[in-house]
This record gives sequence, C-alpha cells and structure tokens, in this order.
Amino acid sequence: MSKVLYIKANAKGEGESRTFQIADSFIKEYKQLNPQDEVIELDLYDLNIPFLPKGKLNEMHEAVMQKDKNHPVLKFAYQFAEADKYVIAEPIWNLGLPAILKAYIDCVAISGITFTYTENGPVGLCHNKKAINIITRGGDYSAEPMESLEMADKYLRNIFGFMGITDFTTIATDRLDIVTEDTTALLNDSFERAKTAAPSF
Ligand SMILES: Cc1cc2nc3c(=O)[nH]c(=O)nc-3n(C[C@H](O)[C@H](O)[C@H](O)COP(=O)(O)O)c2cc1C
Repeated sequence: MSKVLYIKANAKGEGESRTFQIADSFIKEYKQLNPQDEVIELDLYDLNIPFLPKGKLNEMHEAVMQKDKNHPVLKFAYQFAEADKYVIAEPIWNLGLPAILKAYIDCVAISGITFTYTENGPVGLCHNKKAINIITRGGDYSAEPMESLEMADKYLRNIFGFMGITDFTTIATDRLDIVTEDTTALLNDSFERAKTAAPSF
C-alpha cells in the first residue's frame, strides 16, 4: 500500500480551478486503479502553512534532533518523508510557483528529515518515491524565449530532485488564458493525458 500526498496550491476553489479539475481527474483514475492506497489531500490554503519562524531556526533544528513530529513546521516535513508518492496541482503565478507552495516547500526541505549534509555536500533522503506535477499556465512556455522564463515546474523538479525524488513527471497545460484558444479542447487533452499517466504512477 502506498501513501500518496495530493498537494493543492491555488487560491481558486474547487470547481473554479482548471488545475484542480485536471489533477482531480488524475486522482480519480489513480484511486480506481489503486483502491488500497491512502490518498491524503493537502489543500495548502486550508492548512495555515507557516513561514519559517523568525529567530527560531536553531530551535527548529534542535527539534529535528528530538524528532518532534508535532512541531508546527516539522510536522509537514515528517508527513512528506513518510509518503511514497506526490501529486502536485499548481498554476504558474508570476513565472514561478504560488507563494504558499514555496512556503510549504520551506517546511518540507529540512536538513535531517528530507535531505542531509555529507562531506560531499547535500544528499536527498527521500528514496524510491515519485512525483507528478500537474501545472497550468495562461501563456505558452513550450519553446524559447518563454521556456527559459518558466520557474514553477523547473523549481519544483529541482527541489524534489534535491530531496532525492528524481522520478518526476510533468503534465503541463499551456495557453489557458489566450483568448483565441479553444480552452475546452486544451482541457480535454489534459484530462486524457492525466488519465493516461495514472496507470504507471
Ligand atoms: C496571480 C497570478 C499570476 C499569474 N501569472 C502567470 C504567469 O506568470 N504566466 C502565465 O502564463 N500565467 C499566469 N497566470 C495565469 C494562470 O497561470 C492561469 O490562469 C492558471 O494556470 C489557470 O489555472 P486555474 O484555473 O487553476 O487557476 C497568473 C494568474 C494569476 C492569478
């Protein structure tokens, strides 16, 4: 049995967010194929995700030594480390990821829990895990010069790799806010791609 974290980062609610619609279709298919798995939904806007506490970083690292799983920051890192798979649903915002998702990553990328420092530099501690990033974008980042400006999917792929999660798939939907686009067709294509990705996840 696998533990799956479904990490949702959008200020738009259920029914309004196209990102969530695509990710929900992936999750629905995944659950049908893997009824024994535990899927834990983390709607980040509902979780009071903290910023790293001012003046208390040393205290936080002492709490890591004590393996304090109830610590307001570390509880997210322990939960992350105990999961096997991650499904992320994010829109691109201002070329990057929504700030709440970055705040969550700051709670999760904790030395001693999800990565560690060695004499050869940092190494990830999250092994044999996989992630899928379901990302939507108003513009089109599939080719240069826009491709280089994209820092949402790229950042997430890099930070997951940093924690040891190199099996990282992206399902991107571009052009959603281009007025001449047939957004229904774009979304239908994404629902299909999400469904097709579920069996091998
Ligand atoms: C605050 C904000 C910033 C955005 N910045 C970008 C951006 O930098 N590039 C882009 O292509 N789209 C941008 N968009 C458009 C969204 O990415 C797009 O509408 C969204 O992915 C659609 O998914 P949703 O319906 O789930 O929100 C932005 C939207 C908002 C609300």
